[in-house]
Amino acid sequence: MPVVTQPVVEVCDPVQSPDLGAASIPAHVAIIMDGNGRWAASRGLPRVAGHREGAQAVRRTVEAAIRNGVGWLTIYAFSSENWRRPASEIVDLTGLLRRYLKSEIKELSENGVRLRIIGDRTRFDEEIQADLARAERETQRNTRLNLTIALSYGARAEIAAAARAVAAAAKAGELDPAKLCEEVFEGFLHTAGTPDPDLVIRTSGEQRLSNFLLWQAAYAELVFLEVLWPDFDEAHFAAALAEFARRDRRFGARAG
Ligand code: FPP
Repeated sequence: MPVVTQPVVEVCDPVQSPDLGAASIPAHVAIIMDGNGRWAASRGLPRVAGHREGAQAVRRTVEAAIRNGVGWLTIYAFSSENWRRPASEIVDLTGLLRRYLKSEIKELSENGVRLRIIGDRTRFDEEIQADLARAERETQRNTRLNLTIALSYGARAEIAAAARAVAAAAKAGELDPAKLCEEVFEGFLHTAGTPDPDLVIRTSGEQRLSNFLLWQAAYAELVFLEVLWPDFDEAHFAAALAEFARRDRRFGARAG
């Protein structure tokens, strides 16, 4: 049996104690927008009709987040697994996203929304990548709401990419492996500098995370709603916030 003389990874400084008096409004809400296809099918419409209505629900949700004083909103618009969908649906989704960016950017800016994209954007064509970079640049000074759109995003891929970057930095002598702690590792994730989500909402009745923010959602409250994403509105948002406010968040500590 190998004799371990010293720990490979130094114990990190204890993570700062979260405020157990917990704010009743979550600082960061993350949403898995699910059910566009079922919404369309139940009306005998093509899937793209569900995605189109889904884009309207995104508009409503951004407004609801601002009105409720939520500072960070992250929405899962396209997963790394969604590339397995038929090419025509991918074209529909990317087309909708481009139209959303074009039509909303002015209003987002006027409303103080800063847009960020997480995920592997290199898989999109260059025009889309340019649109994404422009939207991020044009809104970078806004501070009222931080809107992150997860595109071609998968949490396992994100964590593996961070591990690769950490290993490369260690190999180059820029990072001492013994000093790698949670806070340092987080700096290598796509979400570096973003607070962890306090509340994750998933619509459509499915109850799973589907490779979304697996690291960041470690202590998030999960709220699953029966509503299909295209029908999601301010009342559903308010219901999720009310459910969040009822939860007793302990972050592993004992009940008081
Ligand atoms: C899940 O429904 C939804 C998606 C895969 C795409 C989400 C996209 C939008 C809401 C519209 C465009 C986005 C922006 C940011 C403007 P599903 O198709 O998996 O539904 P199903 O499970 O009922 O088939």
